[in-house]
Amino acid sequence: MKTKYQWLSIVSISLCTAALAGCAEVPQSSANKGAVTVKPFGQTKDGVAVDLYMLRNSKGAEAGIINYGGLVIFLKVPDRHGKLGDVVLGYDNLDGYLKDTPYFGALIGRYGNRIAKGKFTLDSKEYTLAINNGPNALHGGLKGFDKVVWDAKIMANPEGPSLRLRYVSKDGEEGYPGTLSVTAVYTLTEDNALKLEYAATTDKDTVVNLTQHSYFNLAGKGDILNHEVMIPADKFTPVDSTLIPIGELRPVEGTPFDFRKPTAIGARIGQDDEQLKFGGGYDHNWVINKPMRQLGLMARVYEPTSGRVLEVWSSEPGLQFYTGNFLDGKITGKGGWVYQYRNAFCMEPQHYPDSPNQPNFPSVVLKPGQVYKNTIIYKFSVQE
Ligand code: GLA
Repeated sequence: MKTKYQWLSIVSISLCTAALAGCAEVPQSSANKGAVTVKPFGQTKDGVAVDLYMLRNSKGAEAGIINYGGLVIFLKVPDRHGKLGDVVLGYDNLDGYLKDTPYFGALIGRYGNRIAKGKFTLDSKEYTLAINNGPNALHGGLKGFDKVVWDAKIMANPEGPSLRLRYVSKDGEEGYPGTLSVTAVYTLTEDNALKLEYAATTDKDTVVNLTQHSYFNLAGKGDILNHEVMIPADKFTPVDSTLIPIGELRPVEGTPFDFRKPTAIGARIGQDDEQLKFGGGYDHNWVINKPMRQLGLMARVYEPTSGRVLEVWSSEPGLQFYTGNFLDGKITGKGGWVYQYRNAFCMEPQHYPDSPNQPNFPSVVLKPGQVYKNTIIYKFSVQE
């Protein structure tokens, strides 16, 4: 009798239905030659087993996802010479993620980014959240979606090897109202994109803002100041000194926040600018030039030494671009790399920070009967 792990490691996606009853929820395609393998990845402090799912497409690109926190723990994509390299920061083992992590690779929820003073009012009722970032609530609380174990299922998906995670967040969990049922589908497509499809429903009015918090370094080493970034946004949301938006949509024109033309991250990051000082660099939300809910390009990043290009696509209205300003050499990550200041950047498609308290921002309220949906695509390619 084979164990779960032996079975899964020999199952290619196209055989998924036969091997795992009820597995296929998407039509099969013989064109999809990708595979998913799974292996144990340790246990949480409560003794819950955690698995590592490795998605591999026919081009050889690989994504490693664990069902603890929905974390993307590695992402191997080719450089301009075809050499695969890991482009995300993280740890070699689960222990690192359990002890201390600035949200490496994390699935963030129930509310990504900050809520001022950890308070918001919904349907005339005030809710109080844990304060975990200066005076504010950040990234879903003390035990957000990045610190829970999700149910995982390998999916048959014609687009590529695919994994579905599910989690039911209880009414009142981390202070948020309503039972929230969440699914997150991760697919590694044949064109080297990691596609994330989030969906959620609730049984009471609540607020939702899910995102992905991978720390990218397209060279796989060093700082990210030479990476060239393009963000198609005419406006951004300036913040106060605690990184809460002040409610204004400010034109990027004439500021270091203008990335409408590709510009090296390091070109203006040290300028004498109040907003850059508040963030310790870039840690802001850009208002992307596109219609609400429509999938569109949010950013394009090019790293000249490796030739790697990352395009970020999403259906979300905002993009939090963060330049690893809190990395300070205290974390030793994968392969012994000591993560220094600005060794990585995050591109987090989401609704604007503090939206529950900002009536002029697009709404993050989810009501019973509605389905929250959010697609995020990290697509890799190369440029000469
Ligand atoms: C987000 C925030 C940053 C920082 C990181 C995690 O990107 O906007 O300020 O908290 O998460 O360190």
